Amino acid sequence: MIQETIVTTQDAEGNTHIAPMGIHVAGDEYIILPFKPSITLDNILATKTAVINYTDDVRVFAGCLTGRRDWPLERAEKIDAYALSASLAHCEVKLTHTEDDPVRPQLFCTAVHQVNHAPFKGYNRAQFSVLEAAILLSRVTRLSAAKINTELEYLHIGFNKTAGPNEREAWEWITRAIEQKLRESVN
Ligand SMILES: Cc1cc2nc3c(=O)[nH]c(=O)nc-3n(C[C@H](O)[C@H](O)[C@H](O)COP(=O)(O)O)c2cc1C
Repeated sequence: MIQETIVTTQDAEGNTHIAPMGIHVAGDEYIILPFKPSITLDNILATKTAVINYTDDVRVFAGCLTGRRDWPLERAEKIDAYALSASLAHCEVKLTHTEDDPVRPQLFCTAVHQVNHAPFKGYNRAQFSVLEAAILLSRVTRLSAAKINTELEYLHIGFNKTAGPNEREAWEWITRAIEQKLRESVN
């Protein structure tokens, strides 16, 4: 199973980096799969730690893909790292081993501490739509404008019926960035 999460990592100087990552969960093992090059990859190799944050604030996903990476953080409890303040839960992990790959290495991690901060409030179609739109943004150079627009039109149906203010803000960031990239690719 893959969980869409926010991974927080630190570089050797203690600067925190925030990035959306799909984490493979297999029993007690968490596998982080960053595409090279990746700051997340460099940081985990340097510190051997990471925090996997579970959040329903999709602005963090949309923000990280549109240059808004400055989200409130708080100290992790068992490792020298920071967790996302907006998370419903977080998991502090240590790197156990890696399987290197020229494109997408696998970072095998194990949980050292898990914390619940707030209850899960149920599924929301607008949050799903924002995550899918964020994925489209990350692939915008590899997909046709027609395909992107068709997918956005479909995602907008569920989005429009269920979005709250956070989802609307996130959707605007993503769709504006997609429009800009599509304009740039035409010129
Ligand atoms: C929902 C979602 C899941 C993502 N999953 C991954 C992933 O598993 N691996 C990856 O390299 N990038 C993933 N990305 C894209 C990264 O977040 C983005 O490219 C980021 O900048 C990674 O590079 P960095 O570690 O240098 O920040 C995902 C983006 C979204 C919106």
